[in-house]
Amino acid sequence: MIVGASRGIGLRLVEHLLADTRFSIVYAACREPQSAPKLTELQTVDSRLRLLPLDVVDEATIRDAADSVATRTGWLDTLIYCAGVLRSGDALKPEKRLSDVRSDALTESFRVNALGALLVAREFESLLKAGSKAVFAALSARVGSIGDNGRGGWYAYRSSKAALNMMVKSLAIEWGRFPRPIRCYALHPGTVATDLTAPFRANIDSRSVFEPELAARQLLDVIDALGRDDSGGFYAYDGKRIPW
Ligand SMILES: NC(=O)c1ccc[n+]([C@@H]2O[C@H](COP(=O)([O-])OP(=O)(O)OC[C@H]3O[C@@H](n4cnc5c(N)ncnc54)[C@H](OP(=O)(O)O)[C@@H]3O)[C@@H](O)[C@H]2O)c1
Repeated sequence: MIVGASRGIGLRLVEHLLADTRFSIVYAACREPQSAPKLTELQTVDSRLRLLPLDVVDEATIRDAADSVATRTGWLDTLIYCAGVLRSGDALKPEKRLSDVRSDALTESFRVNALGALLVAREFESLLKAGSKAVFAALSARVGSIGDNGRGGWYAYRSSKAALNMMVKSLAIEWGRFPRPIRCYALHPGTVATDLTAPFRANIDSRSVFEPELAARQLLDVIDALGRDDSGGFYAYDGKRIPW
């Protein structure tokens, strides 16, 4: 299951999962499935794709989506949380300095980038527990690393991803105590050519930017390569560990 599947990395992950015959059903959750043309197009050609409405800031929709999966299959092997915001409208923009900080922007960042992942984890826990693979991965960002923060700024995005990382660590500890543990990872996809990075890409060397299709494949390879002992860690697209 991909949460935040309408576009960007999440959409490419859906395409990769559909191309993989190991997956009997792929759930794609997003705020407005009917307004996600690529997803609706994919659904017409592959009946394994199931679209679910889910807004990560609306707990009722998260519960409804979990109920739908419980009714339909009763288990999940892998859930990848891709919902994220870096900017939205005039209020939420990466802050260059403290005076740019806005409480509504901080709130939105924390709700989408961090709190939503924990609420999704809570509602889908029993389904992952019933799955044979039991992996929960959340797309974090290297800029959420406290140890790696050399430039400052970006208060809302950096701190919401750092909060997400802490949630992943705590989840891994709790889920590691289950007789059949649920593995849990925070993943950095690299810099990827999506809507999220579009306003900043002019300042980035294009050779260091991944296409979403490649980024999705790399993330799935990393998830496949990580084992039980790696649970609770923060990993980049190349499988290397990132400091907290
Ligand atoms: N691109 C990069 O270089 C990069 C680098 C590091 C980390 N990341 C992380 O990777 C993840 C995916 O990023 P991306 O580049 O694919 O971004 P994107 O193209 O902007 O896509 C963001 C996704 O999040 C969804 N989303 C936002 N708010 C939501 C909500 N309330 N409920 C459900 N879904 C919501 C969007 O859905 P709607 O279509 O409904 O808005 C969209 O599907 C994010 O967590 C991002 O922080 C990206």
